[in-house]
Amino acid sequence: MTRKDIMNTKKIYGPFTQLIPMNGLPLHGPIKDDQLEIISSGGMVVENGCVLEIGVYSELEKSYSDTQKKINDTKNLVALPAFVDCHTHICWGGNRINDYALRVAGKTYLEIAAAGGGISDTVKHTRFASQDNLVELILKRVHAHIQRGISTIEIKSGYGLNLEDELKMLRAIKEANERTPATLIPTFLGAHIKPKDFDGNHAGYLEFLLEEVVPVVVEENLASRADIFVEEGAFGIEESRIYAKQLKLKGFDVTMHVDQFHPGGSRLAIEEGCVSADHLEFTDDESCALFRKSNTVAVALPGASLGLGMQFTPCRKLLDNNACLAIATDWNPGSGPMGDLITQAAILGASEKLTITETLAAITYRAAHALRIEAGILRKDRPAAFTIFETNDFRDIFYQQGQLKPVATVIKEECFEF
Ligand code: NIG
Ligand code: FE
Repeated sequence: MTRKDIMNTKKIYGPFTQLIPMNGLPLHGPIKDDQLEIISSGGMVVENGCVLEIGVYSELEKSYSDTQKKINDTKNLVALPAFVDCHTHICWGGNRINDYALRVAGKTYLEIAAAGGGISDTVKHTRFASQDNLVELILKRVHAHIQRGISTIEIKSGYGLNLEDELKMLRAIKEANERTPATLIPTFLGAHIKPKDFDGNHAGYLEFLLEEVVPVVVEENLASRADIFVEEGAFGIEESRIYAKQLKLKGFDVTMHVDQFHPGGSRLAIEEGCVSADHLEFTDDESCALFRKSNTVAVALPGASLGLGMQFTPCRKLLDNNACLAIATDWNPGSGPMGDLITQAAILGASEKLTITETLAAITYRAAHALRIEAGILRKDRPAAFTIFETNDFRDIFYQQGQLKPVATVIKEECFEF
């Protein structure tokens, strides 16, 4: 059946042993498991890719008796909104197996970068790849994410680091977005590091980005979000502040990689009203407290902690300081090659003592808030992007720490069965 055939038909999905809409939960702070709405024997009526009604399946069946039924076998199924991965770098060429071998033998991420490995190595391979190559690589990784139950994926540039190759990356992300029902959200990360071949200092490179690259990004509508890596060996606090202010003036939502190895950057992200502050492995108590009155989403990236063998982001402390906490994979060839959101969120939740609902919120509607979009929630008139697991208890998804995989993910009326 083609996509056209199945559009415009009303369908009832279900019955689901449990249907979890993730509706009516707080955006900030701790969440107890008893706050989570669980619809037993639930169902969902979908029309034109949007939710028409959610409720008890047998009642929906009566009200919509002339409607096509989609799943009505006897298996125990749990349905939830499809997940949101709000921080990835899945547009890359090459690999960093060599870095990995050096790291496990004792070298640090920053030492490897200083010796010419790290991000610079991926820049070399990504510059070498054609736009078509990159589109194929992105789509392969997007498909792997759909199999993991993810329908919304943020993707950063940042391995081009010159006019031509940053644009190539963003154009590849745009083209990939047109070829998948998943939602791909591009972020301009020209300020990942200063490339080795740039003739000038860090401030000069940021000026070059603002004057030469950003205008084309705007003109071609390639991204409305921008990111900067604030860290030793990348960009300093004050130059990042100036850059962020300029980007905001140009209408960008700004996000930052901060506190990955040293504290200080998250304060800047909050002061500059960034939509999110990502990493936070080294965020100190003082910075955690700043999230209390902030709408900057705190994004933890356990895949980078696991990839680098480093401490996790202090998620419990951030939530107890009323932060809006999201969890994302940071899927990239260097620090986070794994890319498995559920495995990473489950391990982080166990280490940081997060309730299952807090972990679920962090990979659904709270992650969507980091992108300033509505997703990761099932409610009337909103897109029906959802994922289905074969189990009778949604907690099993985290209990099995990523070993329980979805049996299907439905996005824009396209049903991917696995
Ligand atoms: O989020 N820290 C900066 N950027 C990425 C890593 C990119 C890479 O190592 O290729 C991160 O960890
Ligand atoms: Fe990252």
